[in-house]
Amino acid sequence: MLRNDQLDQWDRENFFHPSTHLANHARGDSPNRIIKGAQGVFIEDRDGRKLLDAFAGLYCVNVGYGRTEIAEAIAKQAHELAYYHAYVGHGTETSITLAKMILDRAPANMSKVYFGLGGSDANETNIKLVWYYNNIRGLPQKKKIISRWRGYHGSGLITGSLTGLELFHKKFDLPLAQVIHTEAPYYFRRNEMDMCEADFTAHCATKLEALILREGPDTIGAFIGEPVLGTGGIVPPPEGYWTAIQAVLRKYDILLIADEVVTGFGRTGSMMGSTAYGIEPDIITIAKGLTSAYAPLSGSIVSDKVWKVLEEGNDEFGPIGHGWTYSAHPIGAAAGVANLKLIDKLDLIANTTRTGDYFRAQLIEKLGDHKNVGEIRGIGMLAAIEFVQDKSNRTFFDPSATVGAKVSASLATKGVIGRAMPQGDILGFAPPFCLSPEEADIVVDATVCAVHEVLG
Ligand SMILES: Cc1ncc(COP(=O)(O)O)c(C=O)c1O
Repeated sequence: MLRNDQLDQWDRENFFHPSTHLANHARGDSPNRIIKGAQGVFIEDRDGRKLLDAFAGLYCVNVGYGRTEIAEAIAKQAHELAYYHAYVGHGTETSITLAKMILDRAPANMSKVYFGLGGSDANETNIKLVWYYNNIRGLPQKKKIISRWRGYHGSGLITGSLTGLELFHKKFDLPLAQVIHTEAPYYFRRNEMDMCEADFTAHCATKLEALILREGPDTIGAFIGEPVLGTGGIVPPPEGYWTAIQAVLRKYDILLIADEVVTGFGRTGSMMGSTAYGIEPDIITIAKGLTSAYAPLSGSIVSDKVWKVLEEGNDEFGPIGHGWTYSAHPIGAAAGVANLKLIDKLDLIANTTRTGDYFRAQLIEKLGDHKNVGEIRGIGMLAAIEFVQDKSNRTFFDPSATVGAKVSASLATKGVIGRAMPQGDILGFAPPFCLSPEEADIVVDATVCAVHEVLG
């Protein structure tokens, strides 16, 4: 096939890339990577260079690339019924089937699934549902949302506000006033070094309660959190964290939104992160792993408790004024059904623990003692290496040194993709669930070389 040599120029001239240094890209000062194909855990660029994608795109291609079962399900759906809407009680066989499959996999006491397209719009839906819920209950003041510093929940107006990362607020006039942030559940970055994990958990719960009391409990509608912090650094919560947080939320009648966009459908080694950590959410956000990104689809899973109030509201005020043209898009739903079936058929969730544990153990064995490796952590098919300047007193590098970005760039030259997480010098991994031990070894060996190349 003839290579289109203008593509690079067109990319620089026409394409507004998300989360990119726009000027550098347009000027050609930063490299671009144009991806042409992918199979298994490998992607291939248009120069024929293969890279092991140890971040599964943006932690979303959970079943791996090139799955014909999903591609065929999408094609079949497109032939039979490319689109029909879901307004005023309409549905398609595929979207109804998928809703049932999701509920079968959700924690207890969940009632219905609203379908969107991506994680950001699902969280937007969730916040509107919290507001609607409290308006119906006659509690119009109970609207503020508590999120955590370093949480990631999207980059829209309200969702970018929920996100607790500076980059997503800077120069966008965010966060909006309805959103407030509390302590990140990030034990490695605790202020008081001599605090044990259990004390740090108690400290997070105390800070949350103090914030609620300061703002007024009758002004707080919901708390949102990822079972495992994702983009904020890939950080499993400290021991007992979710039990302690839920006790505070229940005391003040505050809804809990579990954002399972990354953790949903197996990434932590359990079907849902909520089950892994004993979380009993009122609303769950799902996206990414729902279709393994073969087509855009997200969802808001609503509990019995919330659903009941939504029904009451509609009985009193009429149909809910919320919906997207592409809600429950049949092509996304077809991808979702085929994806969830494939995860079961290949028992991929078991492999997230089996190979995920092996992968982290190898990273720890080969890099745990490195002078600049402060911590190696993770769960299931999630791992992160956090770099420090001085291990003895946990001094971090100056951000201007861009150590994380340099290690990630060096890793790419060795044929492996790991992600430099946006805040801190953290190299993140979230490979497809089908990663084999041999492929894990490739990632580990390349990472060892990259770390030594950048940090000695
Ligand atoms: C936990 C979490 N929530 C929400 C989102 C936003 O999803 P999207 O990028 O599909 O809008 C992300 C994206 O990475 C995420 O990690």
